[in-house]
Amino acid sequence: MHVVLGVGGGIAAYKAAELVRALQTRGHQVQVVMTQAAQEFVRPLTFSALTGQRVITGLWPQDSDPGELSSAVEHIAVAQQSEVLIVAPATADLVAKFATGLADDFLSTLYLAFTGTTILAAAMNTAMWQHPATRQNLDTLRTRGCLIVEPDEGWLACGTLGAGRLPDPVRIAEYLDSVTHHKRDLEGEVVLVTAGPTQEPIDPVRYISNRSSGKMGYAIAEAAAHRGARVILVSGPVKIAPPHSVETIQVRTAHEMRTAVMEHLAEATIIIKAAAVADYFVSEIPKQKLKKTATRLSLELDPTPDILAEVGQRKGDRLLIGFAAETQNLMEEARRKMASKNCDMVVANLVNQDGLGFESDQNEVEIITRAGQRTHVGPADKTEIAEKILDQVASLHLSLRV
Ligand code: CTP
Repeated sequence: MHVVLGVGGGIAAYKAAELVRALQTRGHQVQVVMTQAAQEFVRPLTFSALTGQRVITGLWPQDSDPGELSSAVEHIAVAQQSEVLIVAPATADLVAKFATGLADDFLSTLYLAFTGTTILAAAMNTAMWQHPATRQNLDTLRTRGCLIVEPDEGWLACGTLGAGRLPDPVRIAEYLDSVTHHKRDLEGEVVLVTAGPTQEPIDPVRYISNRSSGKMGYAIAEAAAHRGARVILVSGPVKIAPPHSVETIQVRTAHEMRTAVMEHLAEATIIIKAAAVADYFVSEIPKQKLKKTATRLSLELDPTPDILAEVGQRKGDRLLIGFAAETQNLMEEARRKMASKNCDMVVANLVNQDGLGFESDQNEVEIITRAGQRTHVGPADKTEIAEKILDQVASLHLSLRV
């Protein structure tokens, strides 16, 4: 693929040289763009020697080539020629510029002109990484489709220990391959994904629900569509936009989710149940709002239909992947759910870890198969976790087909 690598001005800029090598080893052609700040850390010569190409260092013609048409429109040409933009290290400054649409140098101008896949490999000091401004900028960029490779934890150049190190260049290169799907390994499949929480009304204005954001299920749905599957996403109420190229059915309650899943079960070949379905509901909802009294209020709750268990009974040769969100005994619970609900695979995660799981952009999961294979993934961004889950799904699907 034609990759344009934007190198930001952080101490990790030197690792971008290793990234060039890792990308080239995987058969990609790399054009390097450096910000002014990046050139304070590494000389463009390093990258031009590695790529055999001129490194783009600014918007304006260089003294050495004052007459070049280049610069005035070069960002458009580079944007059109490249399939992927990787920014590594993506500094707090670059993340802020991209989020606000500022275009005052070549890289930020290129970012605005670029319509392909954008991957940001963040690296910065831990406090900057955790600052609400950076978090908000990253959220904005995520909703606009940018893929974020989370920084690693470890000792930072500033002498502190924490999150902020540029991820291993090989990991970034692998991530590129997984999201751009050299492999369209789900072509011809129909993947039914459930996501988000359900809301169970208790009166006309109140409901019981949980903290699921839907991000994990949405990331899986989007990644499955990229891999060539037709995707039907049955979603509980969430605050995120439905992915492109996915048929989304919005539901509210567990019963509505069950109906939507059963309606589409026949056409599905793979079912991934990432939704956090409420286990109980109020069967007799009062017509009027419950009034406050001075006494204790009791709610009568009935169990909701267990959609996963029902699909497990009716699945035939379809592949069924369940989720197990636990606060303790992760593996035992995951294995129990696998057996009792007839799943082929269970994705298990602890939901009481700070900064992971519910409401978070990151997750850390164990993927276990019925055959007992176990894969640990994360902590990583949910888009990255989704890819790893689908790697396992695709290979399991293939092995069951042969
Ligand atoms: N699930 C479902 N229908 C329900 C409850 C859960 O389909 N009524 C699915 C979820 O989508 C998930 C899996 O079952 O794939 C496990 O959900 P979880 O809440 O972890 O487990 P429960 O089965 O509810 O079991 P427990 O409450 O004992 O943890």
